[in-house]
Amino acid sequence: MKIAITGKGGVGKTTLAALLAQAYADMGRQVLAADADPSPCLAGALGFPDEVRAKLSPIAEMDDLIYERTGARPGTVGGFFTINPRVDDIPERFSVIYRNVRLLEMGSVDIGGSGCICPESAMLKTLFTHLLFRKDDVLILDMYAGVEHLGRATVDFVDAMLVVVEPTRRSLGTAAQIKKLATDIGLTRMWLVGNKVRDDLEAAFLRAETPGLPVLGFLPADLAVQEADRLGIAVYDYVPVLRQAAREMAETLARQDAGENSSQSSL
Ligand SMILES: Nc1ncnc2c1ncn2[C@@H]1O[C@H](COP(=O)(O)OP(=O)(O)OP(=O)(O)O)[C@@H](O)[C@H]1O
Ligand SMILES: [Mg+2]
Repeated sequence: MKIAITGKGGVGKTTLAALLAQAYADMGRQVLAADADPSPCLAGALGFPDEVRAKLSPIAEMDDLIYERTGARPGTVGGFFTINPRVDDIPERFSVIYRNVRLLEMGSVDIGGSGCICPESAMLKTLFTHLLFRKDDVLILDMYAGVEHLGRATVDFVDAMLVVVEPTRRSLGTAAQIKKLATDIGLTRMWLVGNKVRDDLEAAFLRAETPGLPVLGFLPADLAVQEADRLGIAVYDYVPVLRQAAREMAETLARQDAGENSSQSSL
């Protein structure tokens, strides 16, 4: 099952990605979490200890690896390089595991097709597509803010795209934009997740104003989320209400996925 998490900057994508990753790991699933934010912070949200995090660095910043695989150094403009380098060993070799969550940091990813034609983007695009093709049990992609990352590969392989919003018109505006872009390229399996929801009124606001996306669930606003960050503890461990809400979302998605697979196999 492949889950991509998107939404406006700061709405809580990384928090949700960490919660869902740990929820699936605790359900006994094999989880690969990929941090596709240019400034990675999923390791922190998952509460990875410093000694584990020290072993991790974003693929986009591995100059020697990029050179070895593409034949050119990052930052090179012009010249020749391989546009489909070997990447199949990367998820295992360059990830770390903590509490059954395998984590890979991608670094600055441009997979939408725009942006530079350079060795590092060739490497990341190939790696991203590879992740979508792989037969991982559960893949969680923590995307960066914005919508540029929606490419063709996303459509064919993502089982659920979660659009995170806060109870604000601005974040709903971004959600509507994401939905439009995704719909234009044929992606239909999208859900809205409301985060930082303070009360029933805010939940009702999101239900009423959703840009036509089904609501997967809500995560309450809780100052303990920021406290967990300061303390370096996973939100999953520190804030039981968020853990519970995430578990329910994880189960809903798993049921949906199991249903789709069984209806496919009976065709
Ligand atoms: N439910 C919540 N209650 C209170 N604070 C929250 C909640 N969820 C997230 N936050 C806080 O909001 C901030 C942004 O969260 P997070 O980093 O998960 O968002 P993001 O969408 O990944 O951001 P970015 O776009 O920068 O990657 C953090 O300081 C986090 O602690
Ligand atoms: Mg983030």
